[in-house]
Amino acid sequence: MSKTRKVGFTETVLRDANQSLIATRLPYSKFEPILETMDKAGYYSAEVWGGATFDVCLRYLQEDPWERLRKIRKKMPNTKLQMLLRGQNILGYKHYPDDVVRKFVEHSIKNGIDIIRIFDALNDARNLQVAIEETVKRGGHASGTICFTTSPVHTLEKNVKMVKELKQMGVKSICIKDMAGIMGPKESYDLVSAIKDAVPDLPLIIHTHCTTGLAFMTCLKGVEAGADVLDTAISPMSGGTAQPATETLAYALRSLGYQVGLDDKVLIKMADFFKGVRADFIKDGTLDPISMATDTQCLNYQIPGGMLSNLISQLKMMNAIDKLDQALAETPKVRADLGYPPLVTPTSQMVGSQAVQNVLAGERYKVVGKEIKAYCRGEYGRTPAPIDPKIQKKILGNTPVVQGRFADSLEPEFEKTKKELGATAKSDEDVLSYIAFPQVAMAFFKDREAGFPKKEDPAKKAAAPAAAKPADLPPMPAWQGHVYYANVPASMANGVNARPIQPFAASYQPPHLMMGCRDTCPGVYTITIDGKSYAVSIAAADGAAPAAAPVAAAPVAAPAAAPAPVAAPAPAPAPAAAPAAAPAAGETPVNSPMPGNVFKVECKPGQAVKAGDVLVVLEAMKMEIEVTASVDGTVKSVAASQGAAVNTDDLLVVLG
Ligand code: CO
Repeated sequence: MSKTRKVGFTETVLRDANQSLIATRLPYSKFEPILETMDKAGYYSAEVWGGATFDVCLRYLQEDPWERLRKIRKKMPNTKLQMLLRGQNILGYKHYPDDVVRKFVEHSIKNGIDIIRIFDALNDARNLQVAIEETVKRGGHASGTICFTTSPVHTLEKNVKMVKELKQMGVKSICIKDMAGIMGPKESYDLVSAIKDAVPDLPLIIHTHCTTGLAFMTCLKGVEAGADVLDTAISPMSGGTAQPATETLAYALRSLGYQVGLDDKVLIKMADFFKGVRADFIKDGTLDPISMATDTQCLNYQIPGGMLSNLISQLKMMNAIDKLDQALAETPKVRADLGYPPLVTPTSQMVGSQAVQNVLAGERYKVVGKEIKAYCRGEYGRTPAPIDPKIQKKILGNTPVVQGRFADSLEPEFEKTKKELGATAKSDEDVLSYIAFPQVAMAFFKDREAGFPKKEDPAKKAAAPAAAKPADLPPMPAWQGHVYYANVPASMANGVNARPIQPFAASYQPPHLMMGCRDTCPGVYTITIDGKSYAVSIAAADGAAPAAAPVAAAPVAAPAAAPAPVAAPAPAPAPAAAPAAAPAAGETPVNSPMPGNVFKVECKPGQAVKAGDVLVVLEAMKMEIEVTASVDGTVKSVAASQGAAVNTDDLLVVLG
């Protein structure tokens, strides 16, 4: 392989690095000033959209993801814009009918995307076909992707076979997607060589993560074997769970005689800019130092960057960060049980959540998410190896398993949904947002209708009487800590670190809200979650009980930068599950198996139910968890109410 050949770079700072390091919390307004500069860097492409950016824009950032894309397109006319698409899953966690996949691809390209990197979590090529076809039809560049994973059933031959299938389908390039950073230099060299032998005319891209520290070596050996493009992130947002640094690889490859086509002066400007961005996210606690570290555990656990940071923040919210090691150890076992799916969204969330549930419930597969059930029914496609039949039986009971391609059984959805939404949807893009994330999109539409009211608004009233002078406050301590599982609505707290700001109790003691510490320090804190501030009073925990301290949460006006403590917290904004009368003799309580949010109540008092019937659906760990009746009987009372935050063992339903 001639060394004078060119190696291209795909910049991931706006999508994957953003997603892996700071839970995708980078708003458009924050990166807008650098886009025109970035456009001059000489990248092969810039990955700017798809993955979790879509969901987070709607859910947390009050941004229309489509509008974000159009704005980026305008500011970056010379760079190919790239997105990540989960094949038949689009951006969500389930299979969508073909008409929706086609519409999504059509509008992605219409709004400015050039290259669509298309993957399937199970590497089932049937799940890529429709997205590839439509991309080609709309004049886009379909990049066919293999999710790299290691298991007894993933061989070089299997990968080469898939690449040939993808070529048949019309892809213009191939990407090896190593979402967990587990591909080493040897695997990279061997796999790139094998693929280049099989399809020499297709450009080959390496996508990896620095999680395990292998990435630079993996990229270099991949280039030596013939890889054409590398995914990298500008240095301040590189490393750890994100991509290797753009400048470092450009420097190394150039010194080895390759052409890299990047303008160093532009990269320096970008690095300066993103240093400031990084500092802000470190300051507000979004960027967890753990995400920046090298973690060789991933070589055993195969935890992708995004999944690891999600797992950490979800366990924190459940007040169970001390179970991280157990959850990490359980993960590969769950994966083997499920037939070795590669760990990539959505299977990474499913396997990770299941591992956490197995650990928290104290019994494996006692609590099983709706998505895992669908997976076991075959709705996600062919699993690389068969699912452990005993576990499949425990999860499914007698429910039949799907044969063939699941999407073939789905009715078209786009036109129907468009009609249903009526004037609520202002565009086809709105309809697609809604189909992808119904509840989140609806909340977004309402916010938009109301002119995006600041989330602090209701809080301002609550905070008005509180006028403690800043001079009365003890000095801001130099530590950084987290309030775990404060009793704020789970939907708002989901995946977010709540950082205490300015404790002001007279008997102020240095708090010990350290990583992994479950004690809390008494006092009243202002915590900020997704830009919304809450006054949170934390009482001393009783005796040695390590349980979360009782917390009342109420929005307050105080912005994070200048907290205004509140004298008395107002009532919690979401109704907690009512502590209904304790079950009498002969009655069976049904309790929440884990902390979460009541997503749906599926039963009414007086209703006859059979063991196994779904009573309540919880939303926890970004998954829907069905809580079922353990016995046949009648619903005596329902304590759960939709939208309420519940904790482990909270009463949901009483059966008699
Ligand atoms: Co990635």
